[in-house]
Amino acid sequence: MNSKQDDEINKTFPGSHNYNSANNLIGSDQNNNRDDFDDRDDSSIALKVDNLSKVYDSPAGRLVVLRKINFIIRKGEFVSIVGPSGSGKSTLLNLIGGLDKPSYGRVVINGIDIFSLKDNEIAQMRNRLIGFIFQSFNLISRTTVQKNVEIPAIIAGMDSKGRHERSSSLLRTLGIEDKALYRPINLSGGQQQRVAIARSLINNPAIILADEPTGNLDTKTGKEVFDLLRVLANKYRRTIVLITHDPGLSERTHRTIFIRDGMIEKEVIN
Ligand SMILES: Nc1ncnc2c1ncn2[C@@H]1O[C@H](COP(=O)(O)OP(=O)(O)O)[C@@H](O)[C@H]1O
Ligand SMILES: [Mg+2]
Repeated sequence: MNSKQDDEINKTFPGSHNYNSANNLIGSDQNNNRDDFDDRDDSSIALKVDNLSKVYDSPAGRLVVLRKINFIIRKGEFVSIVGPSGSGKSTLLNLIGGLDKPSYGRVVINGIDIFSLKDNEIAQMRNRLIGFIFQSFNLISRTTVQKNVEIPAIIAGMDSKGRHERSSSLLRTLGIEDKALYRPINLSGGQQQRVAIARSLINNPAIILADEPTGNLDTKTGKEVFDLLRVLANKYRRTIVLITHDPGLSERTHRTIFIRDGMIEKEVIN
């Protein structure tokens, strides 16, 4: 990566610390910068999950999907969540992102207790503080790649020049600038997921939530997408929570939280 690209990326990710500008954006393995992980001051905390519980009541009975989940994620941490199918991983991520409401407990992002907010404020918070990446990409097929990336910025009220500059910069960073005017359908799965990653970054969120983002990709492409997330975490200090089924990927994140039957089974520092 040249210094011009570095400048651009620093502009694209305000607040990021570019520890090693000599590294390539893709495939960086050395930058495991975790020097502030022992800080106990609250400003180092990106996410606090406090006694989070989710219960579904139905005529068939009560289903406890999450019970008293507690953990903290620090700024710049890349944390994976693994667990059997049906163990509550997606429910947990959707609660963290304010897409669903808990039965009990709190989610605090950058010091904001999100469920103390009104619904319209939660939507605003989600737009500003959270970047989502889904297994199925969730791109809008009727419009261009560039417009897809800009949608959260449009919602946030960014002016069109700022949006265009920032989305162009992200597309370049993710290596798909030549696809800006394509429709998503004309891109490969890996390229579509890069568009989704660019979209998740456009509002410079406090935290990126990725629910099995490599689940629809072949192994090689999945690894490339994962490596991008890893660089975003290690080099650009993005805070990322990743659900994955792949132990080969989860062990390459900073920390893994194992979920079973709606509870934290164990946590492993990788
Ligand atoms: N809206 C819902 N109503 C009732 N049960 C639900 C609902 N959403 C999810 N569940 C149940 O919650 C459990 C956890 O689901 P989920 O979080 O999707 O698991 P995972 O992502 O780990 O596979 C499953 O048993 C699922 O059937
Ligand atoms: Mg799931």
